[in-house]
Amino acid sequence: MSVLITNIGELMTQGAEAAVLRDAAVVLEGERISWIGSAAQAPAADERYDAGGRAGLPGWVDSHTHLVFAGDRTAEFEARMAGESYAAGGIAVTVDATRATGDYDLTRLLLARVAEAAAGGTTYLETKTGYGLDVEHETRSARIAAGVVDEVTFLGAHLVPRGWDPDDYTDLVCGPMLDAVRPYVRWADVFCESGAFTAEQSRRVLAACAAVGLGLRVHGNQLGPGDGVALAVEFGAASVDHVNHLADSDIDALAGTWAGVDEQVTPGTAATCLPACDLSTRQPFPPARRLLDSGAQIALASNCNPGTSFTSSMAFCVATAVLQMRLTVHEAVRAATYGGALALRRHVGEDTDGRRAVGSLAVGHRADLQLLNAPSATHLAYRPGMPLVHAVWRAGVRVRQG
Ligand code: NIG
Repeated sequence: MSVLITNIGELMTQGAEAAVLRDAAVVLEGERISWIGSAAQAPAADERYDAGGRAGLPGWVDSHTHLVFAGDRTAEFEARMAGESYAAGGIAVTVDATRATGDYDLTRLLLARVAEAAAGGTTYLETKTGYGLDVEHETRSARIAAGVVDEVTFLGAHLVPRGWDPDDYTDLVCGPMLDAVRPYVRWADVFCESGAFTAEQSRRVLAACAAVGLGLRVHGNQLGPGDGVALAVEFGAASVDHVNHLADSDIDALAGTWAGVDEQVTPGTAATCLPACDLSTRQPFPPARRLLDSGAQIALASNCNPGTSFTSSMAFCVATAVLQMRLTVHEAVRAATYGGALALRRHVGEDTDGRRAVGSLAVGHRADLQLLNAPSATHLAYRPGMPLVHAVWRAGVRVRQG
């Protein structure tokens, strides 16, 4: 079954060339893109969809979320808006609520959050464990997530739970907990920050997870300067996330991972910026402009979680990145699509192995795209907060009608 989407006024492909096509068309065949080019030259297909001159772009790739949780942290948010600072300890409130919730309800909550993200144009989604913090509940979170989202990350090293010695808990994470979650996850992450895990503990977690074949990610330099970026670069992590407080040497180190490499083959460490979280925690925005200008690759992600960023709106992140972080619309859209794919190492993929590339539109890539109720993607920042998503295809299936 093929579908021709034609009369696309502006199409941002975000592929290797990062092209913007005018009066474009795309043919979807099953779950893949089989043709892309000028509407005037488009081949026939089984079905025809008229985009009516709307803008098209890849579906969002949200490479950082924490969606497996129960409970509510409204009071903490209110206190923060009244002047209190964010502290990692708030995670424990969500851990208590999550442990107290059964599988059925936890799955239902996750499904509802994923549906919200999809309605907003997200077509590829990562989520983390990290609100279980014991072997039983981390494993349960990983198992539930693996049945629902595209990529699952083990974040047993999110917070040292009450009553635990930090080094003993790190041993648990690196041993029995890692063994138990391993079948369900592709990635491992550590919150390397004052109040969470020290550089030495983080190093142990990263080494243990790498040794069993997991890809690595790091929460780093969120609440102050620290060792997260340096560790991520040292371990060849796919991404270091938050990156609010960077020294010049951190920026150089991140840029250095991309210098002289063929990113299609050996990508460096992406710097993932989480602007919705920065607004909600009143942290300074990451130096995204400097990162890009120095040659680093950035991703934009929602960081949807109950503590620091209770939104999955990638459009909101793109608008904020343009309005506040000085990215162009094209750069921000690229960071929220191709950048997220780079951060998840899904920017390339074979036609045949069931792991097609996401985050950019090209022949053979997964047919993940969205149409906006607007003539150009510039409207994402020009009309911030407006519900601009018109239609969304995920793996060739129209998941939002327009
Ligand atoms: O990415 N920084 C650590 N983890 C989450 C916050 C989790 C929470 O407060 O519940 C984040 O911001």
